[in-house]
Amino acid sequence: MKTHKGDSPHVVSAALSSRQRVLASDDLINIRAAIAQDRADVRRIHGSAFPESESARVSTLAAELLFDQTLPQTISLIAETEGAAVGHAAFSPVRLAGNPNVRAYILAPLGVKPDHQKRGIGSKLVEYGLRRLSIMKVNVVLVYGDPRYYRRFGFNADAARQYIPPYPLQYPFGWQALALDDCHIKKSPAVITCVAALSDPKLW
Ligand SMILES: CC(C)(COP(=O)(O)OP(=O)(O)OC[C@H]1O[C@@H](n2cnc3c(N)ncnc32)[C@H](O)[C@@H]1OP(=O)(O)O)[C@@H](O)C(=O)NCCC(=O)NCCS
Repeated sequence: MKTHKGDSPHVVSAALSSRQRVLASDDLINIRAAIAQDRADVRRIHGSAFPESESARVSTLAAELLFDQTLPQTISLIAETEGAAVGHAAFSPVRLAGNPNVRAYILAPLGVKPDHQKRGIGSKLVEYGLRRLSIMKVNVVLVYGDPRYYRRFGFNADAARQYIPPYPLQYPFGWQALALDDCHIKKSPAVITCVAALSDPKLW
């Protein structure tokens, strides 16, 4: 997986062309691709959503993922309402040792501004991202977070047993996976490698 810090002309121009394009919408909420110019908003969203002990680290992660040039591409989504960015989610590719043909992604981070939570915005970001990954023929999506939230999308700990996180987990119960098809990994369990922005043991 190729990763590169700094402005990424490929990612930015691809995203710019889709700036006006709303990917999903209902009466109140639009989902669109995040672009480089969203950096400050993305930082603000996670800075306010996460507790103080985590907010700086997660904001930095989210901002870095906007610029991390990955292959396959990282999907970074903004939820906006009345023209204001209120939620953000990123799905980045992971490699599975011994399983080069399995396509896997990880969802991290996900955040919605506190004054906009509990209106379905987080769910819309996750559901849109999962649909997009499914179209891309991704086999499995991983997440490290609160199972009480992620179980509604089908993520579960059993499915994650085949995937070894890159660092020891502070909260092992938060390690979950969602299979998007019935693909089976060859060498199980498989150690995963994340993109550069997520390759920081403090995030785990
Ligand atoms: C988690 C988060 C993204 C959900 O966003 P949201 O827009 O409020 O999500 P939705 O409206 O789709 O769903 C809201 C529901 O999720 C529940 N929920 C939110 N966080 C939860 C958690 N950690 N555990 C269990 N349920 C949770 C809410 O209570 C609400 O329940 P309800 O539908 O019964 O009222 C948002 O609460 C957030 O940004 N939290 C802080 C950052 C964070 O924890 N991110 C996830 C990383 S693991």
